[in-house]
Amino acid sequence: MSTTVGNKWRVKSLDAILATAKRKALTRSLGAFQLTMLGIGGIIGTGIFVLTAEAAQLAGPGMLISFVISALVCGLAALCYAELAAMVPVSGSAYTYSYATFGEILAWIVGWALVLEYAVAASAVAVGWSGYMVGVIQNFAGISLPAALVNGPYAGGIINLPAVIIALAVTWLLVIGTKESAQVNAVLVAVKVAALAAFVALAVPAAQSDNFVPFLPLGTTGAISAAAIIFFAFVGFDAVSTAAEETKDPQKNIPIGLVGSLVICTVFYMLVGAGVIGSYGAQPVPGPNGEALYPGSIELARQCATYAEDVLPVACSKEALAHVLRMIGYPGIGNVLGLAAGFALPSVVLMMMFAQTRVFFVMSRDGLLPAALSKVHPKYKTPHVVTIITGVGVAVSAAFFPVGQLAAVSNGGTLCAFFFVALAIMALRRSDPNRQRVFRTPAVWVVAPLAAAGCLLLFAFLSVEAQLVFFGWGAIGMVFYFLYGRSRSNMAHGRMEIGELDDDVPPQGVAPLPGINTPGGKDA
Ligand code: ALA
Repeated sequence: MSTTVGNKWRVKSLDAILATAKRKALTRSLGAFQLTMLGIGGIIGTGIFVLTAEAAQLAGPGMLISFVISALVCGLAALCYAELAAMVPVSGSAYTYSYATFGEILAWIVGWALVLEYAVAASAVAVGWSGYMVGVIQNFAGISLPAALVNGPYAGGIINLPAVIIALAVTWLLVIGTKESAQVNAVLVAVKVAALAAFVALAVPAAQSDNFVPFLPLGTTGAISAAAIIFFAFVGFDAVSTAAEETKDPQKNIPIGLVGSLVICTVFYMLVGAGVIGSYGAQPVPGPNGEALYPGSIELARQCATYAEDVLPVACSKEALAHVLRMIGYPGIGNVLGLAAGFALPSVVLMMMFAQTRVFFVMSRDGLLPAALSKVHPKYKTPHVVTIITGVGVAVSAAFFPVGQLAAVSNGGTLCAFFFVALAIMALRRSDPNRQRVFRTPAVWVVAPLAAAGCLLLFAFLSVEAQLVFFGWGAIGMVFYFLYGRSRSNMAHGRMEIGELDDDVPPQGVAPLPGINTPGGKDA
């Protein structure tokens, strides 16, 4: 099973990947239901609980259109993911697909972009959690934490300490080898779904049609800009594909898990959005001269500070859904919803950071990142080095940046990964038409180009800062690749791509990482 040495683009052989995956397969224990739960667990988080406020600031009631636009782009991307995930049921997700389709450079770019998707998303969710926890502490214990310690400089503070604490706490859990069990995940999903269901049940009946007017206060540009942010609320379904190696009958269950979780969440989000707008109103907060203000800007923080709490527009709230419930006459349930968010959001941080460590691990196993990163802790048997590096990065960005900017940066990385997945599926249909595809993306020549175009559209409407971070990060990645990974990668040396690190032992308590000698896999 040697790699294609001399292969100019260093394209990994799909057959080699598949054969290795079969030989070293992890225990296949996840079915369609668990996968859908995994997807919903990854999807519902800061996006709907917090970024609804940012969407209101950009689009007003038109955020309903924004939800539809982002759901469509995600749905199209999910259909592309489904074909690839079912066909190449191995870990590494978009990174692995790109390696097998376009070769090493593009795989590197995608893997590097996935750092934005996962690590920066973890920071965004940590900041979102902080907003809810500050509200919970205030409303349940009557303690107002000092503003300077719960806000970054963007809102006149010094550091977002609660966000740092949760990021480091999750890092510690990952180092000592705790992974949410399927049961814990199911409980947390139930908590999130119950919280959103309670919100819908109380807010939608209180809707008034006046609150939907003007529907598009900042025009269609505002609605698409909000879609580019609220896209974050849908991210996470691709985590289903990263579990492909642990899935029973992946050809059937992966597509069900991906598309099912996305559809369920979209319906919920639309209802939640309608509840926010209809019951309380969701018009943007204008600047002193009536100008539009970008979410997360210091100007917006300044304007928001001029409102009393009991008339605070939803666009100013850091705990949008709890705030709306309090304002429409359900303060107790609003506080409980805040508690539910505080309880459930850390699991999204954990999932994102876990996904990040896996991607780093696969890249390090491929020789593109230093092997030291994939060191396994002698006692805890977890990849502690990569986990601690990831955790510190997540904590630092959560400390100083606003949730909207972090979400936008994360979206940039995700859109990049989705874009290449859409291209990969078309390329593989051309280059490898006879390979067995149990799930075939319907109307692929329409769906995949539309998915790619949707990604480009949303990327174009991200904030300029987020775009600059994306390209800056990409440039750093290219320098690193040419100075380090290119000459050291396994492909460069004609080594087998998977399974060279088999002296290592699998981490206990976490799902075995790919590339580690895994005992007990059903297919092993
Ligand atoms: N979709 C996830 C969230 O909204 C990332 O938190």
